[in-house]
Amino acid sequence: MSFGGSDLLPGLQRDENWYKRGVFYEVLVGSYADSDGDGIGDFQGLISKLDYLQWLGIDVIWVPPFYESPLRDGGYDVADYREVLKDFGTLDDFRELVTQAHARNMRVLIDIVINHTSDQHEWFQQSRQDPDGPYGDYYVWSDTDEKYENYRIIFVDTEESNWTFDPERRQYFFHRFFSHQPDLNFENEAVQQEVFDIIRYWLDLGVDGIRLDAVPYLFESEEGNGESEPATHEFLRRLRAMVDEEYPGRVLLAEANQWPHEVVEYFGTDDDPECHMAFDFPTMPRIFYALRSQYKAELEEVLREQLEIPRDATWGVFLRNHDELTLEMVDEEYRQTMYGWYAYDPRMRANVGIRRRLAPLLENSLSEIKLANAILMSLKGSPILYYGDEIGMGDNIWLPDRDASRTPMQWSPDRNAGFSTADPGKLRHPVVQSLVYNYQHVNVEAQMAQPSSLLRWVRNIMQVRRQHPAFGLGDLHVRDTTHESVLAYLRDYAGEPEHPHSGDKPERILCAFSFAETPTQATISLPGNEGRRVFDIFGWQEFEPVSDEGTITLTFGSKQFYWLLLAEPDTVSTATSAIPIIRGLGGANDGDAA
Ligand code: NOJ
Repeated sequence: MSFGGSDLLPGLQRDENWYKRGVFYEVLVGSYADSDGDGIGDFQGLISKLDYLQWLGIDVIWVPPFYESPLRDGGYDVADYREVLKDFGTLDDFRELVTQAHARNMRVLIDIVINHTSDQHEWFQQSRQDPDGPYGDYYVWSDTDEKYENYRIIFVDTEESNWTFDPERRQYFFHRFFSHQPDLNFENEAVQQEVFDIIRYWLDLGVDGIRLDAVPYLFESEEGNGESEPATHEFLRRLRAMVDEEYPGRVLLAEANQWPHEVVEYFGTDDDPECHMAFDFPTMPRIFYALRSQYKAELEEVLREQLEIPRDATWGVFLRNHDELTLEMVDEEYRQTMYGWYAYDPRMRANVGIRRRLAPLLENSLSEIKLANAILMSLKGSPILYYGDEIGMGDNIWLPDRDASRTPMQWSPDRNAGFSTADPGKLRHPVVQSLVYNYQHVNVEAQMAQPSSLLRWVRNIMQVRRQHPAFGLGDLHVRDTTHESVLAYLRDYAGEPEHPHSGDKPERILCAFSFAETPTQATISLPGNEGRRVFDIFGWQEFEPVSDEGTITLTFGSKQFYWLLLAEPDTVSTATSAIPIIRGLGGANDGDAA
């Protein structure tokens, strides 16, 4: 049984469900805070912001690749898995980051890119020079580029083939991504052993979780299409067994941009598990579709598709991340519609997706940003925020590729948004200076000073979420509504007798969202809940109970939502919340407890 790593990692509170109940925050080291004024963010800068992240209510920091790299793919092109990028600091700085995070009861999840390396990696250099040497078989070499012809190309903007000719070895090497990222040959047991050892190395340093980048592509075969090959799953089962055995409480998170029935395979089974977590790629674009179309249908459909996952497993849900908003999980007609709405300028597109941040996507509509976040925070799975989205940061579509949404964090109205003291021309990415998202008004300092800011609202909703185990641990059941713009689901937590948490009592929360632009009324079917008392969990205002027919009728303003506790009819009082109500008695959308 796992104990949340607390026996090994000083500072952390014991919680075997930490990855189910926590809020994750993706932070790009190079873009967060620059401690030494060289124009590039670093570990010491990030360490100096841990108090901010703790204040915000973040439980897990996800740090994308920070290894030695030529940085031709944001660090996902690793040149040395055991060295940190000098621009970011030293290994000791990284150790300090982990220690300092743990001291604040925050966990650290890192990326390990196991499918491919940079062509600058020593293994590749040796492999191309010496086919018969110890690294000769570390990559997927072929005399012809006509193998695996049915494999799709992922980076369609830049690549024409999954094979590139290497003039030195005079053979082709296989790559699922950029042509400077050769795929490792997982058929070679030495490669598998290397991957195990790299993962052990970072777990020994105290990290709490590993995001397995591009995990469907590890193995290739003639029969398959190089995605989710049986051998890939078999490898993951062995990796999980090692982690459970040697590092109980640490987790594996799968990055598999696939349809639900395929992604669930990455959880494995109760008896034969693979990853603890997997990103929920199909739900994300449907939230954006619902927001613009004002119809809930497609989102509802994917949420109704309840897939069995092992007891230890959970989804990672997100709105945005460091990549393009991928549209791979929607059909062509749908995709074109979304391009029309969200990427009307071709510059906004990248590969099969849209390279923009949350606030610009939603035209900086506060009600839409809140609605999207309220869905994110109440879905089944752990919410993963992208740095800067908590203040509604903008993007810069004039920067190449996905750098559009990797610009420096906006801390204050000072020089370089408080990110760095360097000469502004020296920054690796410029700060956003556009009219609407200029750092002089969109920044942490200003939003901390303003009780009604997005930042304080995000903090508040996360505090509310934290008080209710139903969000992290409960089931999700979609309920019928009478309105095509109104989505409703129950988050239902039966309690966990095996692992009682203090205060974790069974509870049922109704989450209802209106995508309509104009005021709306909808009746929601709640069979089995007749007579239950209804409380808004932001302000503890009591509503009319669920009717004898098992329905509730709600009135929504434009793009509004409710989170309502459905308490047993004989509940004496549920108004026990420790959250002081300062404003927003008028409904959940306005709630702010800061
Ligand atoms: C997935 C990462 O999220 C992405 O940023 C990267 O470009 C690809 N893997 C290829 O390394």
